[in-house]
Amino acid sequence: MASSIHFLMCAPDHYDVDYVINPWMEGNIHKSSRDRAVEQWQDLYHIIKDRAVVELVQPQKGVPDMVFTANAGLVLDKTVVLSRFFHKERQGEEPFFKEWFLQQGFTVHELPKDLPFEGAGDALLDREGRWLWAGYGFRSELDSHPYLAKWLDIEVLSLRLMDERFYHLDTCFCPLTDGYLMYYPPAFDAYSNRLIEMRVPESKRIVVGEADAANFACNTVNINHTVIMNKASAELRERLEQAGFEVVETPLTEFLKAGGAAKCLTLRVTEPIQPLLHGAATIESRTIRLEGHLLDSGLINRALDLIVEGGGSFQVLNFQLGEQRQSTSQAEIKVTAPDHNVMEDIVSQLIDVGAVAPPQEVCDNPLETVELDGVAPDDFYVTTIYPTEVRVKCEWVRVQNQRMDGAIVVSETPEGLIAECKLLRDLKKGDRVVVGVEGIRTVRKTEARDQRSGSDKEFGFMGAGVSSERRVELVVEQIAWELRQIRDRGGKVVVVAGPVVIHTGGSEHLSRLIREGYVQALLGGNAIAVHDIEQAVLGTSLGVDMKRGVSVRGGHRHHLKVINSVRRHGNIANAVEQGMITTGIFYECVKNGVPFSLAGSIRDDGPLPDTQMDLIKAQEDYSRHIRGADMVLMLSSMLHSIGVGNMTPAGVKLVCVDINPAVVTKLSDRGSVESVGVVTDVGLFLSLLVQQLDKLTHVYQVAQTV
Ligand SMILES: NC(=O)c1ccc[n+]([C@@H]2O[C@H](COP(=O)([O-])OP(=O)(O)OC[C@H]3O[C@@H](n4cnc5c(N)ncnc54)[C@H](O)[C@@H]3O)[C@@H](O)[C@H]2O)c1
Repeated sequence: MASSIHFLMCAPDHYDVDYVINPWMEGNIHKSSRDRAVEQWQDLYHIIKDRAVVELVQPQKGVPDMVFTANAGLVLDKTVVLSRFFHKERQGEEPFFKEWFLQQGFTVHELPKDLPFEGAGDALLDREGRWLWAGYGFRSELDSHPYLAKWLDIEVLSLRLMDERFYHLDTCFCPLTDGYLMYYPPAFDAYSNRLIEMRVPESKRIVVGEADAANFACNTVNINHTVIMNKASAELRERLEQAGFEVVETPLTEFLKAGGAAKCLTLRVTEPIQPLLHGAATIESRTIRLEGHLLDSGLINRALDLIVEGGGSFQVLNFQLGEQRQSTSQAEIKVTAPDHNVMEDIVSQLIDVGAVAPPQEVCDNPLETVELDGVAPDDFYVTTIYPTEVRVKCEWVRVQNQRMDGAIVVSETPEGLIAECKLLRDLKKGDRVVVGVEGIRTVRKTEARDQRSGSDKEFGFMGAGVSSERRVELVVEQIAWELRQIRDRGGKVVVVAGPVVIHTGGSEHLSRLIREGYVQALLGGNAIAVHDIEQAVLGTSLGVDMKRGVSVRGGHRHHLKVINSVRRHGNIANAVEQGMITTGIFYECVKNGVPFSLAGSIRDDGPLPDTQMDLIKAQEDYSRHIRGADMVLMLSSMLHSIGVGNMTPAGVKLVCVDINPAVVTKLSDRGSVESVGVVTDVGLFLSLLVQQLDKLTHVYQVAQTV
């Protein structure tokens, strides 16, 4: 028939499922019937021929998938971008398609050899010609999209495919006449779904369910108001008819075995240009550098996973492998993201694993001025626990007061440039704050091979893992050894503790640690102090007799009585000095000059006069006590431990003890080697710890006498 619409098809003379390059092919090798395939292809051919012009390319031996002409290339007007097949099994098709396009007078563009792009299988024009939807994630690289924008002078909208069953964009996405779009949303990531929803109004979106998607309903040939597909459910047919489409079903089951259907078997080679629209791609690329034990620490894998999971793609430009056991490796990686925001998210995560922009690229960090006290510029860089440096005047400046969830303020002082972490509430109008992610790096200690393999005498063998019950004693032994080292060199250990320490009988052990100089600051809430003092004064904890383990008559009022008594004395220190409190954790703190800070909460009884109910002041107190710590021991207080974790920079050893593995995992999962979780009863942990310290003391004494 006379039509201005032309399609390219290729007869299935050599079609078969010869190999497996997608999940549909699995189990289908040589299972398709040639006769049935020919029959089905002929039916499709005639249906299309009734509505458009069909041109044919000569089938070739040895390239069975050539029948899927959608993957020949991407056509716009008389220009074609040829496919660069991802799998070597299909690369043999490239010269045949190239020849056909050249014969027809097309201007042929070819992508660099190592840049996969699978033509109209992964790039679909909006049927109004307004833009090009381009898929990536399985077969085509995101990096190919800027070439499409440049060569075809069209806006490219990149969509990330997530489900390997829908490995090409045209298996789950089909732009239709009049601005309609038929698609299967779960095949895309959240960002892509948002982009689709922004461009296509809800009334024009025809969402298909999983069953239709699996029948390749989206792999449809659309000619004006006709849609030709393998199969449609009654529901989908009705929806399409409502939108003004005639639905033509033609079984293509033999081709489904290879992961293709109607659309895959055709390539529309007449695609007119919209003269008023011009090329644009929001795609951004940046190069980052990584250094360290990239392979054996798994750092390179982690970085590449972060890029892909974040919606980007990568190209390793350069990789220098450290040759000696102790030498480090370097990699230069080109990161590509579909837009600026995605790029910033990816790069900030890469910074956390130690990536940097090559130094020649950034000399000054972008800074923006604070306009309102306590409010950062929108795009401010959010700090992490890792020691961070920012690029100012072509120098790397170390950020002071490193902590999580702050902003970086850069100032020039008579002493030189200063960069420091500030909490949002501390920002002042006029402060210059680092925005974006350029010129920022975190300085990660290179994990030595020995540390990872476990022979390190400090925390190495525990890794950043959560130990099982079985390993508790071993872990305790290591912690005791470390505590002893810190005490002997005049270091600082901060204990964060909840009231469970008292209920589980840990009070006497923690008291001993304080008395013997193993603790330099104690952080907690109202409860630990109340229950410690209740036990010291009345022998009960929450009204339970700690010696006999039974409830005492009227015991439920005990804690209120002690709160009242302490309030009468003015504070805990006075209560100790005036003889009201004669034993216990807080008694030892006062007597041994160990500072403590109690942060208030909404459930506090009393509270004790020492409990700081102004939470901003409480946070400041905590932060002051944590400064300079070598180790933080977190003992069964989720609330206060999480607070402390956020304030503590990397490099401080964290030990988290809790009976709940989820709490331990949350607290010790800081991605650093210095944290360790112990899942056990805190009373038991403290008693084992004290026993181990006694053993060590004994060993030291023996060593001295020898
Ligand atoms: N009377 C009071 O004023 C009062 C009483 C209770 C709590 N509070 C306040 O409420 C806030 C939260 O209190 P919190 O720190 O107890 O609660 P939390 O929920 O933050 O932490 C308790 C943690 O202890 C763990 N745990 C329970 N049994 C354990 C065991 N045998 N061994 C090891 N770990 C165990 C839990 O899994 C949990 O993670 C604090 O500010 C506290 O002061 C006040």
